[in-house]
Amino acid sequence: MNNKLKNKRILICGKGGSGKSSVVSLLGNALVKKGYKTILLDADASNPGGLFHLNTENKKAPKPLIDFFGGRTKVTCPSDDPSPLTRIGSDEAVIDAAIKLSEIPKEYSLKKKNLTLFQIGKIKQAFEGCDGPMSKIARDFIVKGGFVTLIDMEAGIEHFGRGVETNVDLIVVVVDPVFESMIIAEMVARISEIMGKKKVVALINKVNSKRVETIMKKDLKERNVQYLGTINYDDEIQTAGFEGKMIVNSKAGNQVNKIIDKLETLVK
Ligand SMILES: Nc1ncnc2c1ncn2[C@@H]1O[C@H](COP(=O)(O)OP(=O)(O)OP(=O)(O)O)[C@@H](O)[C@H]1O
Ligand SMILES: [Mg+2]
Repeated sequence: MNNKLKNKRILICGKGGSGKSSVVSLLGNALVKKGYKTILLDADASNPGGLFHLNTENKKAPKPLIDFFGGRTKVTCPSDDPSPLTRIGSDEAVIDAAIKLSEIPKEYSLKKKNLTLFQIGKIKQAFEGCDGPMSKIARDFIVKGGFVTLIDMEAGIEHFGRGVETNVDLIVVVVDPVFESMIIAEMVARISEIMGKKKVVALINKVNSKRVETIMKKDLKERNVQYLGTINYDDEIQTAGFEGKMIVNSKAGNQVNKIIDKLETLVK
């Protein structure tokens, strides 16, 4: 293991249903096997619990991180107020004084060996407000101690409007074989270029033919989006997604490891 992804924050985004949460789970578990301490951050406020279910048989979800930071009364939407995220009782920005895992009570996370999963928060009530405050946590939740953090974003590109990408080292856009996915990948690459040249790479997911994979690679090239790797369509992943269970026995192992090797070459 070469440790290149240590302390890196990688954002996983893309079209709704393209496979973001499945990819985060596959990469997260493979990173742990490779020796990385890994944080999975569920930053999708509208999905009831996708990422959590894909990583444990446990039924009780962790407490939302937004409560740790003082809830909606303290954490503001970055579009209205871009000021940095702070801890309760402190004015110091989390981005200047990164969080130690030992600061956060254990009910806020799911822990599996070297994998730690957090849920930022979920929309549960009518009229409770937008998910902007959750975006600020996704933007500024930086943890001390050599972790690689994978951020599982909500579908689409609204998060760019809120600047969630400000503190990430790499953006992975997941594309499934759907026209809209390719357009979103191109938009992500273009917007990221404007946002300080963040590196964007595309991960092709759910393909079941070499022909379609070749077409998609060509299409990405024409749209100026760098190719990262491919995860084929796999029944095991779909079954886990349908049943809301952990992904086990996926055939994607070799492809996922190749993707991690490539990610290690892409970060500075
Ligand atoms: N490589 C794959 N092979 C087969 N099925 C897959 C694959 N990747 C994802 N899926 C299935 O596609 C569906 C959507 O996957 P997932 O929930 O990971 O996508 P998402 O992008 O996180 O969705 P959302 O936008 O709702 O958050 C699930 O049923 C999942 O099991
Ligand atoms: Mg998801």
